[in-house]
Amino acid sequence: MAKRELEHTRLPIPNGWFAVAWSKDVIAGGVKSIHYFDEEMVLFRTRSGEARVVDAYCVHLGAHLGEGGRVVGDSLRCPFHGWTFDGQTGACVNIPYCDRIPAKAAVRAWPVQEKNGMIFVWHDEKGREPHWDFPLLPEIGHPDWSEPRTFDLEVPVHVQDMHENNNDPVHFQFVHGAVEPLPSDISYDSDGRAYRITSVTERATPTGTFTTQLVRDSWGIGLSAVRTEGIPQAGLLMFSSTTPITAERTHSRWLLTATNNMVDLAGEDFMNGLTSGVMQDMRIWSNKVHRARPMLCEADTYLAEFRQWVKQFYV
Ligand code: FES
Ligand SMILES: [Fe+2]
Repeated sequence: MAKRELEHTRLPIPNGWFAVAWSKDVIAGGVKSIHYFDEEMVLFRTRSGEARVVDAYCVHLGAHLGEGGRVVGDSLRCPFHGWTFDGQTGACVNIPYCDRIPAKAAVRAWPVQEKNGMIFVWHDEKGREPHWDFPLLPEIGHPDWSEPRTFDLEVPVHVQDMHENNNDPVHFQFVHGAVEPLPSDISYDSDGRAYRITSVTERATPTGTFTTQLVRDSWGIGLSAVRTEGIPQAGLLMFSSTTPITAERTHSRWLLTATNNMVDLAGEDFMNGLTSGVMQDMRIWSNKVHRARPMLCEADTYLAEFRQWVKQFYV
């Protein structure tokens, strides 16, 4: 029997840092409704330039703060009766027609950080504060590196199944037409939340053929960077964030940059390679089920390791 509902296991939404917007999408004073983690939220940028994210519905009579809400200094003012909420704490700081603010008047404020060209929200099913981080990538915005090119897409699949591709060397051969799976090494950071997969390959580039290393870093479920190293005085970087919209739908963002000396020669190919690669995965992702207990073979060591590793990101 192959009914989807019998074959498919519904995973919960994992915990961690996830991108909710590109930095360029929200200017100071800008307000944007966003929907991730199966929650309605509002992203805004304070007059001093800080990105903030709060729950969408006002504690007063329930207006949607993203539908006409206005930024006032560091706060967001509700469009309905003007109650104003601090973006960092969520506390109501002003009711224009009443001197006394009820003690519990607050909306939920989500932990936010901004780096690598994106705005990230910390999602934790138990409401715990962020307890791990990921790095600022020095290539992004560096004068020797190109202006990042970006690409994003919604995919009807759980975020974990998208991330699993990183740990699936065999699919590169079958889905992406690679000649053979790349020999790889995997190493974990001290707290076990990040890992690095390194593979060595011969790579033909516009400046010659070199032995290059493909270095894939992952932080939690959803954040990853892929660097091509070993081309003299040149480099390529892809950074991506996959964010759960719901348990069954994912928003993925990719950012690409290359050293300035490479970008005219390889920038376009790099972008086209990425987008066509994603489209090849798309057919698999959009139609697969999630197998909680996949039938693995002896050679699927990376997949088996990945399934153990992801457990820490669920409650
Ligand atoms: S509903 Fe927001 S101020 Fe009344
Ligand atoms: Fe893939």
